Amino acid sequence: MAQSRIPQTSQTGPHRRLEETVLRHLRHAWQSPVHDYSRRAFGELNRSLDSAWPVVLDSGCGTGVSTVALAQKYPECLVVGIDKSAARLGKSPELPANARLVRADLADLWRLMSEAGCKPAHHYLLYPNPWPKPAHLKRRWHGHPAFPSLLALGGRLELRSNFELYVDEFARALALAGVVDVKVVSFRVDDPISPFERKYLLSGHRLFQLTATLE
Ligand SMILES: C[S@@+](CC[C@H](N)C(=O)[O-])C[C@H]1O[C@@H](n2cnc3c(N)ncnc32)[C@H](O)[C@@H]1O
Repeated sequence: MAQSRIPQTSQTGPHRRLEETVLRHLRHAWQSPVHDYSRRAFGELNRSLDSAWPVVLDSGCGTGVSTVALAQKYPECLVVGIDKSAARLGKSPELPANARLVRADLADLWRLMSEAGCKPAHHYLLYPNPWPKPAHLKRRWHGHPAFPSLLALGGRLELRSNFELYVDEFARALALAGVVDVKVVSFRVDDPISPFERKYLLSGHRLFQLTATLE
């Protein structure tokens, strides 16, 4: 597998507009229309959710390799992998009975799920696209207008990335939202959970993990 590069950014620290952007999104509900394909996907998913079965979200699951690993880790839960890329989802491994893959835009699905009162027990955000250019702050999940919906879902959140600045900004955004038990560590892994984790590990990158409990 080709060596991959650690995201390069011209930022020398957290984005200078991070605080104002996060606070604006926390204060004003996001009104943009939901994509039809996300609404259909949510409708199907909602019909298959059983309140007796705790939910684990694998947001941005790519090919669903991590969704399968999480379904094995949480046999008592329904693990839902979500990605907008039909091409990636089309390469998924065989799914165990407690796993589903959903094609949807995360910004839409988080909003629809939180409006429907869905409360996942765990929420994994594994190697989100880094968007390292300063102009792309609003594409990073903590700078995105969908950030309040992610918070509203609650549960035990775990973010992994090879881009330390992303994790640092995410932690600051959580603090602005009043989340208190945010932990960030650099970690080593022997058995990568996802294709991007494997790729970064083979390229010798430092990996970062953020965990937090969302109310
Ligand atoms: C860098 S890849 C990581 C994939 C996987 N989690 C892994 O660790 O191998 C980021 C994934 O997020 C998905 N993604 C990015 N923006 C998305 C969005 N708005 N809605 C749904 N999926 C999105 C991409 O399609 C891609 O599969």
